[in-house]
Amino acid sequence: MTTTPAIEIVGLTKSYADTPVLRGVHLSVPAGSVVALLGSNGAGKTTTVQILSTLLRADGGSARVHGHDVATEPEQVRRSISLTGQFAAVDEILTGRENLLLIAQLRRVADTGQVADALLTQFGLTDAGGRRVSAYSGGMRRRLDIAMSLIGDPPVLFLDEPTTGLDPQARLEVWRTVRDLAGRGTTVLLTTQHLEEAEQLADRIAILHEGRIIAEGTLAELTALLPPATVEYVEKQPSLEEIFLAVIGHDGSTTEGSRP
Ligand SMILES: Nc1ncnc2c1ncn2[C@@H]1O[C@H](COP(=O)(O)OP(=O)(O)OP(=O)(O)O)[C@@H](O)[C@H]1O
Ligand SMILES: [Mg+2]
Repeated sequence: MTTTPAIEIVGLTKSYADTPVLRGVHLSVPAGSVVALLGSNGAGKTTTVQILSTLLRADGGSARVHGHDVATEPEQVRRSISLTGQFAAVDEILTGRENLLLIAQLRRVADTGQVADALLTQFGLTDAGGRRVSAYSGGMRRRLDIAMSLIGDPPVLFLDEPTTGLDPQARLEVWRTVRDLAGRGTTVLLTTQHLEEAEQLADRIAILHEGRIIAEGTLAELTALLPPATVEYVEKQPSLEEIFLAVIGHDGSTTEGSRP
């Protein structure tokens, strides 16, 4: 059972109207690993995560999460996963602690109060726990959102751009949390546009570009993909950014204009 990948994606396709977004995505995520799905705006990262978390149906191909098919066994998949979406899914009217209690009750964990308080402590939200979320900063919301996704200890966690919009300190806190989770054996698939984030957190990095995974491996394996001519002009160890740009076919001299 330990050799079964936690996430197995085979030939996944998805179009919106007649615009193809995923054109045959293959990816295998070993159980207990952290994999970063890296791609530019609109590459299809959120689409992929939504299919894996059963929020969206693929057009073709298949995906298994924790041994269950997302199309035919969505209930079992949902019981094995947690998703922190790109946009925080916290209830503004409730306090931070009430948000945690609500999810703890929905997931039927024992001792909801204790679980909520432990998570508030772990995420540095103890003082804010009694305040309404509408008064939280973006970083506090994001931390609460991730804390909520950890209730019930799901074996597989999807984090869609977990640190977008966070200040450097909040980002470090989220990174620490993800590392802790990985240390406890949780499988994490995170999407990011931050190359440093992928570099910092991921055991393996998959680059999604034009609907396919065009490169996948450890940072060292991806570094080895750089054409020798590129390496020649790079004095230090090439950064993931240089690898990314080389792999997607940019020479790095042009600026990506895809930000909305
Ligand atoms: N519901 C939808 N209807 C039509 N097109 C959509 C829909 N959702 C996404 N798209 C399109 O599909 C493409 C992939 O979107 P997706 O949100 O998966 O990208 P992403 O990699 O998560 O991007 P970002 O980094 O900006 O979050 C984009 O071109 C987007 O405009
Ligand atoms: Mg997205």
